Amino acid sequence: MFENLKNNFDFYIRSFTKFSRKNYSGNPDNIESKYLFDILDKYFPMDDKENVSVLDIGSKNWAYVKGEYDFFSRYCNFLKLDGVEIDAYRMNSDFYSRYEIAQFYIKNLDNVRYYPDNLLNINDQYDYIIWILPFVTPYPLLRWGLPEKFFMPEELLEHAYKLLNKQMLIINQGVDEAQIQKKMLEVLCIKYKDLGVIKSNILEFKNDRYGFLIQKQTGF
Ligand SMILES: C[S@@+](CC[C@H](N)C(=O)[O-])C[C@H]1O[C@@H](n2cnc3c(N)ncnc32)[C@H](O)[C@@H]1O
Repeated sequence: MFENLKNNFDFYIRSFTKFSRKNYSGNPDNIESKYLFDILDKYFPMDDKENVSVLDIGSKNWAYVKGEYDFFSRYCNFLKLDGVEIDAYRMNSDFYSRYEIAQFYIKNLDNVRYYPDNLLNINDQYDYIIWILPFVTPYPLLRWGLPEKFFMPEELLEHAYKLLNKQMLIINQGVDEAQIQKKMLEVLCIKYKDLGVIKSNILEFKNDRYGFLIQKQTGF
C-alpha cells in the first residue's frame, strides 16, 4: 500500500518534469543487443518481405534496439521499428532518463521511433511484436516503481494481439510467470506455440526465460 502510494507520487512527478541529463553515450553493439539478435535468430521464424513493421513493448531504455533492428533488416528492404515504454522518464542514478538513453540508441537507425506512452494508446498495426518480460503478477510491477493501476496484463495482451498482423514473441521470466502467461493466452483464446526455455550463449540469467510464439489467426 505504501509502495503503491509512493509509486503513484513518483510517477506523477516524473511525467511532468521529464528531467534528464543530455547527450548520453553508450555502445549500441552491447551485450543486450547481441543477446536479442541471437534469441530472434533462434526462435523467431521469418520470411523475406518488402516492408516490415515491428513493435517492441516495454522497451525500458531500449539499449537492445540494435539487435532487433539488425535482425529484422536482414529480411526486408524497408523496416519500421517502434518501441513503447510507459515509464520513459524514470531516471538512472546518473540522472539520464530512459527516454534520453533510448534517443541515443536509436539516433543512427532509420525509421525507428520510441514512444514514451502506454501500450493502450498505440493504435497502429504491426507485422511483428516483441514483448520481453511483461508484468504478469503485481509485485514485480510495484518493485519496478510503477503504480498498481498499470497492472492490467490481460487488457494489455488483448490490445497487443489486436495490433498484431502476423507473429508475436513473448518472453517471461521463471516458470511461475510462464505458467501465468500460458493461462492468460488460453483464457483469451490466443493460439500459441510453447517454446519452452529460451537459451542463448550470449547471456545467462538466474531464472530461466520461457518463450511463447503467437501467430495471428485471421479467422479465415
Ligand atoms: C520487466 S521490464 C522489461 C524491459 C525490457 N523489455 C527488457 O527486456 O529489458 C517491463 C517494462 O514494461 C514497461 N511497461 C509496463 N506496462 C506498460 C504499458 N502499459 N505500456 C508500455 N510499457 C509498459 C515497464 O515500464 C518496463 O519498462
